[in-house]
Amino acid sequence: MPLFDLTPKESRRALYGRDAEVDTLVRLIENGRWSVILGPRMVGKTSLARAGAQQAGYPTVYVNLWGVKGVAGLLTALGEGVRSSRSLLGRVKEALRRIEGVSVAGTGVTLSARPPPLRSVQEVVNAIASGRGRTVVILDEVQELAPSSGALLKMLAHVFTTHPNVTFVFTGSAFGLIRTLLSPTATSPLFGRSPVPIDLHPFDRPTSLGFLERGCREYRLSVDRSALAAALDRSLDGIPGWLTHYGNCLAVRRMDPEAAEAATVREGRNVARDEVGHFLIGRDRTTYWAALRALCNPLSWSELRQAVGAARGSPPNDATVANLVRGLREAGLVEETDHGYHIPDPMIRAYVRGARRAPR
Ligand SMILES: Nc1ncnc2c1ncn2[C@@H]1O[C@H](COP(=O)(O)OP(=O)(O)O)[C@@H](O)[C@H]1O
Ligand SMILES: [Mg+2]
Repeated sequence: MPLFDLTPKESRRALYGRDAEVDTLVRLIENGRWSVILGPRMVGKTSLARAGAQQAGYPTVYVNLWGVKGVAGLLTALGEGVRSSRSLLGRVKEALRRIEGVSVAGTGVTLSARPPPLRSVQEVVNAIASGRGRTVVILDEVQELAPSSGALLKMLAHVFTTHPNVTFVFTGSAFGLIRTLLSPTATSPLFGRSPVPIDLHPFDRPTSLGFLERGCREYRLSVDRSALAAALDRSLDGIPGWLTHYGNCLAVRRMDPEAAEAATVREGRNVARDEVGHFLIGRDRTTYWAALRALCNPLSWSELRQAVGAARGSPPNDATVANLVRGLREAGLVEETDHGYHIPDPMIRAYVRGARRAPR
């Protein structure tokens, strides 16, 4: 698969760099330790999870949780994951058919209202575990299940105690549910068995340049190094997903460097608008939007409070600011660094800066 292919990479060979991370993940899987891949959007979490599982060589169920709601949603997503795993489907199909309320049709796995979905989820996992060797289950974007975290943790604890041959790989942003998974309290069903974190960072500048140059070579395309470097510094920031998109515009769509950069930023802004829109649903839009606008530049706590106060007409109290910051960090939109709070993703910044009002 070429480096500039836009879909997640699925093998170690297709990944640029990341050798240490793949080695770590493979070692954890082989030893039955659960892991969680942490990092911002487009940094390569899905690619690492898939490549690591493929390298480890066990049957794997890939479950995409983006947009999934509740335990019923988890059940459906799990069913789709099983369906797309050829090595597993044959074995699991019969077991799935026997689960009350679950039906297996050509198009996927559907459930009726009863029995309770959590029990069905557990039975699907039992079916997955029913083979001999180890099976890997990737739960991608697990923070989406935060509203159902109680049920999820119960299911995971059940798997942990009854199916040592099922190994989970989670991915997600660093806060919220992931925090619950990583540092469970004494009352949590995962206490004492938390997954090992693998932090995935953007590429540094030389790696980013190396990535773009190698990708261009694959297409026998020669692009001036300084043009690539300029695009990196202005817009792309070492995020592999945006580098890939930019490279795809250059090499596949044959755009010139400036047009490729503009197209990537346009695409990035669209993705950012969706993501910010998704985040704002059910929240105080005025306050959160004011905070996002302000956080395009790093701010201290009190500067943030001031900026939000100016937009709302009255200064928010500490609890409101704390809630605001927690919500933004849990969604992976905002980070705390030595310079204060800020939006790390260059595309979210570009979108928020350029938008006239909050997205609907
Ligand atoms: N190390 C890498 N080498 C090659 N391509 C990568 C790498 N990391 C990410 N990509 C590409 O970047 C895009 C985003 O990667 P993805 O794994 O979907 O990120 P995430 O799951 O963190 O959002 C995909 O097109 C993927 O192919
Ligand atoms: Mg992903």
